[in-house]
Amino acid sequence: MAMGQIPQRFIDDLLARVDVVEVVGERVALKKNGRNHAGLCPFHQEKSPSFTVSQDKQFYHCFGCGAHGNALRFLMEYDNLRFPEAVEQLAARQGMEVPREGADDPRAQAREQKRKEGVNLLELAASFFRERLKMPEAEQAREYLKRRDLSPEVQAEFAIGYAPDDWEALKKHLTSQGVSEAVQVEYGLLVHREDSGRTYDRFRDRVVFPIRDFKGRTIAFGGRVLGDAKPKYLNSPESPVFHKGRELYGLYEARQANRHLERVLIVEGYMDVVALAQFGIRNAVATLGTSTSEEHLTRLFRMVGEVVFCFDGDQAGRQAASRALATVLPLMIDGRQARFLFLPEGEDPDSLVRREGPDAFQDRVTCASPLSEFLFEQAGRGRDLASVEDRERYASQVLKAIEQLPEGVLKSLMLSELSSRTGVDQARFAALLAAKAPAEPNGLEAQDDMPADAWGEPNGQVARGGAPLAAKRSGAMSLIARALQLLVHEPTLVDRLPESLDWCPEGDGDGALLKELVKLLRAGRYRSVQVLLAHFHGSQEGERLAQLARRELLMPPAARATELDGLVEHFCRARSRQTPESEYAALLAKEKGGQRLSREEKQRLMELLMSLNR
Ligand code: GTP
Ligand code: MN
Repeated sequence: MAMGQIPQRFIDDLLARVDVVEVVGERVALKKNGRNHAGLCPFHQEKSPSFTVSQDKQFYHCFGCGAHGNALRFLMEYDNLRFPEAVEQLAARQGMEVPREGADDPRAQAREQKRKEGVNLLELAASFFRERLKMPEAEQAREYLKRRDLSPEVQAEFAIGYAPDDWEALKKHLTSQGVSEAVQVEYGLLVHREDSGRTYDRFRDRVVFPIRDFKGRTIAFGGRVLGDAKPKYLNSPESPVFHKGRELYGLYEARQANRHLERVLIVEGYMDVVALAQFGIRNAVATLGTSTSEEHLTRLFRMVGEVVFCFDGDQAGRQAASRALATVLPLMIDGRQARFLFLPEGEDPDSLVRREGPDAFQDRVTCASPLSEFLFEQAGRGRDLASVEDRERYASQVLKAIEQLPEGVLKSLMLSELSSRTGVDQARFAALLAAKAPAEPNGLEAQDDMPADAWGEPNGQVARGGAPLAAKRSGAMSLIARALQLLVHEPTLVDRLPESLDWCPEGDGDGALLKELVKLLRAGRYRSVQVLLAHFHGSQEGERLAQLARRELLMPPAARATELDGLVEHFCRARSRQTPESEYAALLAKEKGGQRLSREEKQRLMELLMSLNR
């Protein structure tokens, strides 16, 4: 076979973006069951469900027949595909092209092309609108687009069209192509009046924006009036292919422009997305008149590491930002970033990018507040932090937000930051958090969390044995514990660690255990969690490692290695006593100098910003 190998990097990347629950869920009826999803096993006959799919682990497992694996393995088994075919299929759903080592793969390209050409009803409608924009009757629409200063190129890229001022133009066109009225109604192109039984075109005398799914298939339309009539925008209703709450306008176009998006900008309007694109800012998407949902964000975070929310500077914008913050908090696992950008009052991205130009706009994006900063700023609004009462309210508001964060570096960071901003001991916050946390179902679980020593001070026997129970449940994990946890879950990560153990934090407790663990893993005999735990069985260390093994990692496998690298870097820095100021200056210079910062560096820059700013 002439086809080249698929690079492993691509496969890792693909698996990090795909959700096994979605892939399996399309073929097997699944029910959410706590953290997992369960259903009847498709690989053996059974009457009661023993087939589970874990979102966190991105794995399926059948307790009946032992079938298990990731999304790729599932497709191979279930759809009876060979490995490259399974990769192709998964990649296609992500809108990704499978690269081959060596030559491109013309067959896959040809297939993709065919699929795109597949005519369907909404594509027909889209080209109808597109054609109509060229006709004499669309004179005013063209005028309007000119007034809005939309270039012909960007109009073409977003396939902007015009729905004529006619009750039946589209209906006649589609009917002549053999499409039944019922189907046109079903997909929202025709309105069906219950009283008269009449049907007529939904979009009339409007500029039409096709809404595409991530593969570029038209799934709905948004139409804008040419003047001031109401409603200003009209969207297709929900249909078998269109679910407002999950689609993002411009996502397909953004990915067309850049296959390796790292950051997405969420703006409010169609016009904002299009105008930004016209000025070369090609990573903006808009929700379809709804606020950003958890589903939107989950989808985006499967593709990119960073999301920047863009809001008006007015009161409504602030409120929308608070909603977005609440939605994004639980999704902030390590390796993800969210930032908040507020525009000057009276401006939207469309008006601003035209007034200031794309560079100034990009600068605003670069300087957007990290989530943590926005959170502290928002909690501090209208409060006088010199007053004890206000400080108390401030702390409790921030704490409420921290509670929503998943375990990880950000949570630890926020707790220690809150403590230094309020001068209140971290242990107190930890106790408060724990008091609010729901009671654990059994005694075993209650030991699963550890004291909140967010800055990675060696967290030894004393803290573990002596801290009040409340603090034990706080859930904030030390950075040393985090490194231990990563290694316990994935022992082979040991191979990435620096040769010398100089980076290892000093101290007994977790610090010492980390050193011991690394040495053991290096010795080479312990590459599975079970064997590793068996080695320590019966000792205090064993108990500690078992605790860490029971705690979910809550991060995609592909991000683990980079997190460990980041931790090691952090430990090294801590030892080399670089001052925060000099480190900050160095990172900033690097960023300003146009060099890309790695995720860890960006996160570090944010940490430093927070600690230096207070
Ligand atoms: P322009 O006025 O054309 O610049 O649009 P805009 O995007 O600046 O408008 P605005 O900020 O008012 O609205 C932002 C988004 O909200 C739009 O892109 C629509 O998705 C949605 N929206 C605005 N007005 C309406 C409306 O009347 N009906 C519906 N369904 N959605 C609307
Ligand atoms: Mn606007």
